[in-house]
Amino acid sequence: MWKLSLKVKENLLIRTGLIVIGNRAGLEADLGRNLFGQHIASDVIVKALTGFMNNGNPKKPLVLSFHGTTGTGKNLASQLIVKNIFEKGMDSPFVHFFNSVINFPYASQVETYKSQLQHWIRGNVTNCAHSMFIFDEMDAMHPVIIDGIKPFMEHQYKLDGVSYQKAIFIFLGNAGGEIITQTTLVSWKAGKKREELKLEDVETALSSSVFNYYGESNVVDFFIPFLPLERQHIVQCIMVEMVAMGLQPDHNKACEMADKIVVYIPDDERRISVSGCKRVASRVRHFMQ
Ligand SMILES: *[C@@H]1O[C@H](CO)[C@@H](O)[C@H](O)[C@H]1NC(C)=O
Repeated sequence: MWKLSLKVKENLLIRTGLIVIGNRAGLEADLGRNLFGQHIASDVIVKALTGFMNNGNPKKPLVLSFHGTTGTGKNLASQLIVKNIFEKGMDSPFVHFFNSVINFPYASQVETYKSQLQHWIRGNVTNCAHSMFIFDEMDAMHPVIIDGIKPFMEHQYKLDGVSYQKAIFIFLGNAGGEIITQTTLVSWKAGKKREELKLEDVETALSSSVFNYYGESNVVDFFIPFLPLERQHIVQCIMVEMVAMGLQPDHNKACEMADKIVVYIPDDERRISVSGCKRVASRVRHFMQ
């Protein structure tokens, strides 16, 4: 079990079933069953979450920054984290999801978005110290808004007696995706196995390419790369979808579909899927009809 140090109010939340205290094994199993081809991300996520949840007195909120091209599982990974902390998963009143494109669309309104968001973070963390905030489409997030929420993620930040140290912030974006893809291809061409790729191999390139989000500040605890998916992973996504549709998973058919519904690069080698498992579900449904 994650050993959370809990105040009376939070204990109440747990007893009323709003927060479920997950555990490392549960998260590991969920990632293993659903998040394909992401050995680095899975590993870092489990370690980061376990360390944070077992720390009764963290010095700052946990801040994770997910990077990778579309369809590599960033959203899925954040949902699996949520599921292992909050019983109601994404429907929990303690999980707050924002998509920059949908929620903060107009540059002319950034000041309004910023103060509204600060107000919400303050209000929600006051209600539940373990509140979680997920921001999708970070590439489209205005710097003014990012600057507005940075203070909440810093060490020992306290405002009006509210401390933010137990909150979790997760950012999802495509920044660094190209570099991760190039690194994966280079390593593959050098004859290395995918599983031999390590965080260090992509980390340096990654942290510099994402400076545009966070400026020089170091609020982010872990930059987490999501590798581009290969055909074998698309096949796995298709098999999961077959099961979800109530069908018998059929490997041969899944392989056949993986070649038809997804585009691979580079042109000659067709090694890596351009859009990962994004929209695979609806394409499978279409194909099966
Ligand atoms: C908590 O955040 C949500 C947005 O996810 C917002 O609608 C709500 O007003 C916030 N609650 C408080 C108490 O600020």
